[in-house]
Amino acid sequence: MPTDLEKQTRESIDKNKVWFRSNDAYAKYVQNAHGKLRSEIESQLTNAGNLLDIGNGGVFNYDTSLAEAITALDLSLDIFDGSFPPPHVTLLEGSALNIPIDGARFDSVVMVMLLHHLVGATVAQSRENVRRCIAECRRVLKPGGTLVIGESCVPQWFYRFEVAVFPVALVVVDKLVRHPPALQYTAQDLKTLIEEEFSNCDVLPVPKGKYDLEFGLLVPTWITPVRQFVFRAT
Ligand SMILES: C[S@@+](CC[C@H](N)C(=O)[O-])C[C@H]1O[C@@H](n2cnc3c(N)ncnc32)[C@H](O)[C@@H]1O
Repeated sequence: MPTDLEKQTRESIDKNKVWFRSNDAYAKYVQNAHGKLRSEIESQLTNAGNLLDIGNGGVFNYDTSLAEAITALDLSLDIFDGSFPPPHVTLLEGSALNIPIDGARFDSVVMVMLLHHLVGATVAQSRENVRRCIAECRRVLKPGGTLVIGESCVPQWFYRFEVAVFPVALVVVDKLVRHPPALQYTAQDLKTLIEEEFSNCDVLPVPKGKYDLEFGLLVPTWITPVRQFVFRAT
């Protein structure tokens, strides 16, 4: 039986910790190129109350005054290096696969650009990690609480391609690329996984901007099949 850490590969965990630590280029991109994602997340986060932000990475892709209190969770507190969160933010170290919180404490949970990073040794394990993360969100949410997810998704044909090349891609990314490995899902797939835990899930396509950031590279949106979506589940 793999431990929680083994469910997400060691390479994925280590590279996430290093890549996103004080990653000014990423933070700048989020401010500039993620503008439309930000406004869609904000419109779903009204009355956020006591909010848990999973995979925060020192980046708040929403107006922090929407929540009364925010717990920002990430794999390592080093990831928050150099960031000065507002006073109502508490930093918490731990994994989305085993959230270090007892009981249903939050009015809302947000995760922005996290799910495609929960990469395991196989496609099946990676999907299982997403399933487990969503179940963990359900566990820490109060009854009637809201889950808001901002995620980049791909069409079915591209997902099939990702699945076909996954074993090779994992080795290549591990050996040659500094960016963490990633597996992007279709919006329908994520809706289905979310609805295993939540009775309702709205899927909101985010209007395309000019550029998107993929594997750390800024690419014009017209050449990539990747699209951003916001999911709101209750
Ligand atoms: C693409 S960044 C997203 C940062 C931010 N949420 C945003 O709005 O752009 C992904 C973040 O997820 C974190 N992460 C990856 N795996 C995680 C896990 N198992 N548990 C918690 N955080 C994780 C990474 O360390 C990184 O900070």
